[in-house]
Amino acid sequence: MAAGQPLPSRAGGLLRAAGIGLGTGVAAVAYGALIERNAFMVRREQVACLPAGSAPLRVLHLSDIHLSLNQRKKTAWLQGLARLEPDLVVNTGDNLSHPEAIKPLLAALKPLLQVPGVFVPGSNDYFAPTPKNPFAYLLGPSRSHDDPGVKKIPRRLDTEAMHAGFDEAGWVNLTNRSASILLQGMRFDFSGVDDPHLQRERYAGWPAGTVGEHAAPSVRIALAHAPYQRVLNHFTAEEADLILAGHTHGGQLCVPGYGALVSNCDLPTKLARGLNDWEFEGHRSPVNVSAGIGTSRYAPIRFACRPEAVLLTLVAR
Ligand SMILES: [Fe+2]
Repeated sequence: MAAGQPLPSRAGGLLRAAGIGLGTGVAAVAYGALIERNAFMVRREQVACLPAGSAPLRVLHLSDIHLSLNQRKKTAWLQGLARLEPDLVVNTGDNLSHPEAIKPLLAALKPLLQVPGVFVPGSNDYFAPTPKNPFAYLLGPSRSHDDPGVKKIPRRLDTEAMHAGFDEAGWVNLTNRSASILLQGMRFDFSGVDDPHLQRERYAGWPAGTVGEHAAPSVRIALAHAPYQRVLNHFTAEEADLILAGHTHGGQLCVPGYGALVSNCDLPTKLARGLNDWEFEGHRSPVNVSAGIGTSRYAPIRFACRPEAVLLTLVAR
């Protein structure tokens, strides 16, 4: 065909369609990386798990902050969350995405560290992220950093320094531990595990003994970073009144109108974000899975899956 002559109509149509497809893909990636990744929101839920006659209690659930350096929008948003006036903060891990991010993290959380809190770590609180294909997230669960098959040795993070910052503020470390806290005159029993994604969970059971005049708990709350089914089964069988977890990032790259394609663990994708009931051997526990606040440093994109904190209002049964 001579130069300057129009392409046959079928070939021209295909080229136009390819151009439109490519343009749409580029626009979607730009939107996910530049806009939705920073479109922070607060999801509000209600859980009827307090004794009859109790006043409501507000629990702010944070997860997967993945703070890196110079993340000013995320930092300002985190600092503003104290305006929600929570009675308790629950942090289910993956706070870090950079070895130098511990001080900025503690600064971002400073207003919330004035509030009673409990926490468990995620794998990204132990190991710095390593470069990878950002779309590998869609190909299946990430390899555990402890997995001998992982070729790149990740840099260890100063987890102890981060935990010391939380401890200093009075937040309670629930890494394979249990503890009781009195809130609004009610006894809350907590049981937490180290990250199940690293297969580090060891169950501490529920706290025993009397707290003040409280021999029995008002409510039992379980924490884990990664909501593997074996962990949800355990806490449900242990009659948790509420289970809180993160890790999934809500799927991170979702299909509008369909939802998550992956949960990064063995949790069904339809449960990758939100408050749902989990049933096991005749028991039932509500489980809140946070879609998280950040992303991996090497996959800085979200689509149809806004970053979130969750404000759970616990009310009387
Ligand atoms: Fe995470």
